[in-house]
Amino acid sequence: MPNDAAKKARAASTHGDAGSLIAAAFDHLPGAVVLFDHERKIASWNRSAADLLDSRADSFHAGLPLSEMLSGLLEQGAIDLGSEMPEVWHRRMLAAHSDGNSFDQALSDGMVLRVRVSRSDDFLIAVYNDITDLYGRERELHDSRQRLKRMNEISVALTGEKDLDTLIEMIMLEAKELTGADGGTIYLKAEEPGQAVMVDGKRIDRRTGGDRRLGDRRRRVSCPPAGMAERRSGSDRRDGRDRRQTRETLRFAILRNDTLGIAMGGSSGMDITLPELPLYDLQTGEPNRTNVASFAALTGNTVNIADAYNAEGFDFSGTRRFDEMNSYRSTSFLTVPLKDRKDVVIGMLQLINARDGDGNVVPFDPSLQQDVEALASQAAVSLDNGLLLAAQSQLFESLMRVMADAIDRKSPYTGGHCTRVPALTEMLAEAACMATSGPLRTFDLNEEQKFALHVAGWLHDIGKVTTPEHIMDKATKLETIHDRITEIETRFATAKRDAEIAFLRASQEEGADRPALEHAWRELAAELDDDLAFLQLANIGGEFMAPEKKERVHRIAARTWRDAGGRATPLLSENEVHNLCIDRGTLTSEERKVITDHMEITIEMLEQLPFPKSLRRVPEFAGLHHEKMDGTGYPRGLTRDQMSVPARIMAIADIFEALTAADRPYKQPKTLSESIRIMTFMKKDHHIDPELFDLFIESGVYLDYANRFLKPEQIDSIDVDAVLGRKAQ
Ligand SMILES: [Fe+2]
Ligand SMILES: [Fe+2]
Repeated sequence: MPNDAAKKARAASTHGDAGSLIAAAFDHLPGAVVLFDHERKIASWNRSAADLLDSRADSFHAGLPLSEMLSGLLEQGAIDLGSEMPEVWHRRMLAAHSDGNSFDQALSDGMVLRVRVSRSDDFLIAVYNDITDLYGRERELHDSRQRLKRMNEISVALTGEKDLDTLIEMIMLEAKELTGADGGTIYLKAEEPGQAVMVDGKRIDRRTGGDRRLGDRRRRVSCPPAGMAERRSGSDRRDGRDRRQTRETLRFAILRNDTLGIAMGGSSGMDITLPELPLYDLQTGEPNRTNVASFAALTGNTVNIADAYNAEGFDFSGTRRFDEMNSYRSTSFLTVPLKDRKDVVIGMLQLINARDGDGNVVPFDPSLQQDVEALASQAAVSLDNGLLLAAQSQLFESLMRVMADAIDRKSPYTGGHCTRVPALTEMLAEAACMATSGPLRTFDLNEEQKFALHVAGWLHDIGKVTTPEHIMDKATKLETIHDRITEIETRFATAKRDAEIAFLRASQEEGADRPALEHAWRELAAELDDDLAFLQLANIGGEFMAPEKKERVHRIAARTWRDAGGRATPLLSENEVHNLCIDRGTLTSEERKVITDHMEITIEMLEQLPFPKSLRRVPEFAGLHHEKMDGTGYPRGLTRDQMSVPARIMAIADIFEALTAADRPYKQPKTLSESIRIMTFMKKDHHIDPELFDLFIESGVYLDYANRFLKPEQIDSIDVDAVLGRKAQ
């Protein structure tokens, strides 16, 4: 019989599913296995048997009695029984069956017939057994294989999961699934009540995971400055006990109970309001060994309790109260510590009320306990990795914000610019991703790109860290580290006084024409007053310096005054003349260059950072926010086509923030309508991206931002249709 036919016969010969399963259970054995039912007739056989005996169909088919099969195979010379007679084996196998032995037992007891197959070294092993007995064993084998397979799948899934909240939920749900538990909880060990979860000596935010959507990252930074815990633990040691240790708690990370319909933490969207579980008595510092979870956390051992109400050594009064309030009965508990690579407990997994196949609450099976422990061990490694990654990412986020804050604090002129630009950038980026029509309908950013833009937003002006304050904040033309107009005022006062002294001296001389001298002195004094007033006005930089005004500056500079040494010195130095002759504003071209250099420096600084692949574009996103769509911007003079959408988004955010900022000195904040009017001109002049600006208006991002960051008096109404050019403005 060809192999295919033999396999078909084999399938047909089996007694239903049980027979198939039994045959399949022995497929992995290299030797042939033939199974007989309790009437000693062939029930099924495995793959090796089919391969060996495929040409002897007559002596090998379902329903064939054992004795006939043996004599048939002996006649064909297919097997060799040695000195034994078939009847002897027949009896011995019958004995194996009547003793109710399992297949393995019968095999080891020699109750299974081993025969040499003449054409090969393989054996044909025939067993006379009870199908139902084998079926149970096969089910066990099948189940344990499935569990092993599932454990492998879980292991792969846990290793691949990057989001901490999802990871914690996955661990809990898999453990529940594995044991059929009705409820489950995962706790994370925290340094002290309400404070950060500790990971490998580092703290991470109480919100361990967090939504990776744009704008949600700010939740991750409410941690105290690094190093505080170390300082505290050093100084607070008392009676040989670390006070920090005495304040450690177990904090609920996720909670589920199917019967009670309770779902808190994880993807449930419900915050956990339950109190934390202290590991030590806050007053005495004694370890809390009465609670099963804290006991397991303190000892690092698994605790398996069949019935909480009868458990000795633990206080389940809280559980009882909970049960009474919720008409529930907490019975079996399995509490397994989650330990990191250094064998330190980082959390706890607790399962409640294991259920059997019929839904009855049963104790946690010790074999399942092993599986849960294996899962917990794998889970703890993944969790530890996740927590470490979260701690690193939180540190990075905090560093980024500290840098942005430092720049904002450096100058009152930039105020909260570096913290508001990322917010607006992310809002507009989100709107661009959401666009379902228009030119941006195909635009999208994945989570990594969104994060890159988030980082770029926070670091977009990092180069300003090198810009000198006296240039960044230069309020008047003569300002260096102070406004030099005061020096000039002093010189004018001195010059005036010298003129007065000269007049008084001259008028004392004999024959002096006093009225003429006085007139000359008063004229000179008035001229000086007038020149000073002119310089004071020019210094503010509010007016354009026409050529005749510059000439006047030069004329004034040509005047002299007597300095402390009595030397005749020009009223204005060369540098003062240079500054006072600035055409517009207060910055010389050299100073303007220093300011615009912040962009080159930003790019240079960011390019020095070894960003991972996913953040490689941060320098580009951050460094082009002063470029204009027509190529007249800086530092690269790029045009719209040469810039990515994220870079163009940031350019809009940077301008809108600067226009509407209400925290700058000497500057009235612009209203919403004024700012948008200016930006409409910028759009017409090809300074900003027209499509993104339209989206900014159409999506309402401008208003959302205004409601978040602008003063109420700044928020006036704008005519959206007019701004978008839908009607004449
Ligand atoms: Fe900038
Ligand atoms: Fe900026």
